[in-house]
Amino acid sequence: MTFTCFDLRMIATLQGAQKIVVLTGAGISVESGIPTFRDAITGLWKNFDIEMLATAEAFLRDPALVWGWYEWRRMKVLSAQPNAAHIAIAELAGRVPQLSLFTQNVDDLHERAGSIDVRHLHGSLHHPRCFDCGHPYSLPDGVPDEPEGGRRLSPPKCLECGGMIRPGVVWFNEPLPVNILDGAFELSNSCDLLIVVGTSGVVYPVAQLPEVARNAGHKVIQINPARSELDRICTWNVRGSAGKLLPAMINRAF
Ligand code: APR
Repeated sequence: MTFTCFDLRMIATLQGAQKIVVLTGAGISVESGIPTFRDAITGLWKNFDIEMLATAEAFLRDPALVWGWYEWRRMKVLSAQPNAAHIAIAELAGRVPQLSLFTQNVDDLHERAGSIDVRHLHGSLHHPRCFDCGHPYSLPDGVPDEPEGGRRLSPPKCLECGGMIRPGVVWFNEPLPVNILDGAFELSNSCDLLIVVGTSGVVYPVAQLPEVARNAGHKVIQINPARSELDRICTWNVRGSAGKLLPAMINRAF
């Protein structure tokens, strides 16, 4: 069912939910000014496609191009603020017995909005590590000096082994963090409500989570201004932006 307002049964389900799973994608950060993953191919990188930037092979082929792209994206995040959707999810966690937040996003906006235990299924821009030995690398504080449009930046060197530092994100053809992914499947199966916000639902295995919840007999609410691959699975498809709909839905319920 597709709605542009709130169905009373949906609100009642939210009010009665004991175990909620929230799954977010790039769309929840759009109203903070963060380009979605596919919109971030601009400037210096506009002639590259995703697979030519977000892979280990791309990094080895041209470390400065890839590191520069991720540093530009990190700069965009550090210059941005969490929006009302991030804040609403943090507030919802205080109104229900259990809320587990999983995100495909590599920004830290959920954390800065007050959410705790944010589980990053695709890693994080803020936790780089050594490409060779895996040792974590501490990025300097502050916003990197990155002119709009970006430029090549040589990655720093590992303090342990001298290897190149790589972004702490999950690249294409890389495994997702097993413990986080297993937790997401387990909780999608055992929750009583899954709320999916701002994802096109095209990248697996994460895109499978709403179906796991639905197949286990649980309700699924989707918030997205556009149709997505998840429409056919969700109990309620609420059309609109997360920054407007999430706060309104939570205020309506509690
Ligand atoms: N509120 C809610 N949803 C929105 C908003 C908004 N204001 N603006 C856009 N959206 C929706 C779009 O309609 C789209 O369905 O957000 C979704 C963004 O989809 P993608 O750009 O494909 O991002 P995402 O689904 O998070 O991508 C998943 O794929 O590219 C890889 O690893 C990358 O984590 C990423 C994964």
